[in-house]
Amino acid sequence: MTKRVFIKTYGCQMNVYDSARMADILHPLGYRPADAPEDADMVILNTCHIREKAAEKVYSELGRLHQAKAERQRRGDDMIIAVAGCVAQAEGEEITRRAPYVDIVFGPQTYHRLPEMVARAARAGAAVLDTEFPPESKFDRLPEESAAPGPSAFLTIQEGCDKFCTFCVVPYTRGAEFSRPVDAVVAEARRLVGAGAGEITLLGQNVNAYHGAGPDGAEWRLGALARRLAGIEGLARIRYTTSHPRDMDDDLIAAHGEVPQLMPFLHLPVQSGADRILAAMNRRHGADDYLRLVDRLRAARPDIALSSDFIVGYPGESDADFAATLSLVEAVGFAQAYSFKYSPRPGTPAADEVQVADDVKAVRLDALQAILGQQQDAFNRATVGRTLPVLIERNGRHPGQLVGRSPYNQAVHLTAPPTLIGTIAPVAIGATTAHSLRGTLTGPVADAPNLIAERTPA
Ligand code: 5AD
Ligand code: SF4
Repeated sequence: MTKRVFIKTYGCQMNVYDSARMADILHPLGYRPADAPEDADMVILNTCHIREKAAEKVYSELGRLHQAKAERQRRGDDMIIAVAGCVAQAEGEEITRRAPYVDIVFGPQTYHRLPEMVARAARAGAAVLDTEFPPESKFDRLPEESAAPGPSAFLTIQEGCDKFCTFCVVPYTRGAEFSRPVDAVVAEARRLVGAGAGEITLLGQNVNAYHGAGPDGAEWRLGALARRLAGIEGLARIRYTTSHPRDMDDDLIAAHGEVPQLMPFLHLPVQSGADRILAAMNRRHGADDYLRLVDRLRAARPDIALSSDFIVGYPGESDADFAATLSLVEAVGFAQAYSFKYSPRPGTPAADEVQVADDVKAVRLDALQAILGQQQDAFNRATVGRTLPVLIERNGRHPGQLVGRSPYNQAVHLTAPPTLIGTIAPVAIGATTAHSLRGTLTGPVADAPNLIAERTPA
């Protein structure tokens, strides 16, 4: 009998990957995607705990689901409500205390046990809780069958983090650093490409700390893995996220200059430009280390576009510290960036420090975002007049419109027939809007996408 499941994903791309795997796991049990939570026999909230706001959203969504569940029960149906992901891992039973109508709570490392949890939830009157860090790896228990990935697919190769930045919950919610073996990654990449993906983004909380067991018995780092994946026919584009500056090794930097499939875009969070704050954050690098790293990356791949994360108002951040962050931003020139007010997370060291006032954080965030916005705008405007190879991913919002991505990870809108979805098309960039580019198709579409994956000199 067909049942419907609605999975709502919060937070990072690793959660997007996990949600897709949950759907794969539920598929043999008869679950198919629902269009809306009200129509679903089961709703899973795959949650994020990185900042307070992200976690709060979960409880307000649960309130709405409670009503939808009651409505379904009045009609003689039911709804299993499950909370997954990092809020589930961090809060565990607290969730069922605050929201007793929740049926299942499970963390990021146990979702391979979903069929068992669903069965237990149907039998038991009480909520099922599974937030272990099990000895077995979920990756060894996931079905090989998966829903069609689309032109751009995610592939988790690494999970967890041993860095313990003092503001961050990840080492607690995702656990210790773990890398999947090279062969398992290559097999999954082949499956994705076989199912139509032309681009794969390798995911990990600390993806460039990757050190998976290689087929030769040695540990392979990310550079070697990227070179191996570049040998897969039909895989035109490789990206990876999120990286730590300390783990950008020589081979990975060199790969950016040598592997045409490795896209010229790198998300490399720096968090702050002040050495004092970086030290307090336990980042293990200074501002100069970051600037030197940027130089080396640009020497290897002159057109590489850089992206970063920033935190403003970390405990103890002075005006001078914040000014140092602005100087670093000026010195680098980012193509894109995310910035946040520091949000104290229970259980992390920085949460117990004296906090910066919220109005100070707000002023700093505005100032930082203004500069980052100008830089993004300048970067986008510099691509106007160029013809870029765009991987066409999907239909746009307007009829006849398609949306794709440039090598630099810019969203590109164009008018073209939907048969182009999945191809890499040459697009003349004509204009920029707030966060995207507009362009027109300029020529025939190559069937071998790599032929037109351009290497632009600086
Ligand atoms: N407060 C604000 N931002 C945070 N991040 C992580 N933890 C916190 C926190 N407690 C940001 C960092 C990280 C990104 C994913 O989220 O910038 O790189
Ligand atoms: Fe969190 Fe990233 Fe630091 Fe790990 S490296 S603790 S995931 S911010």
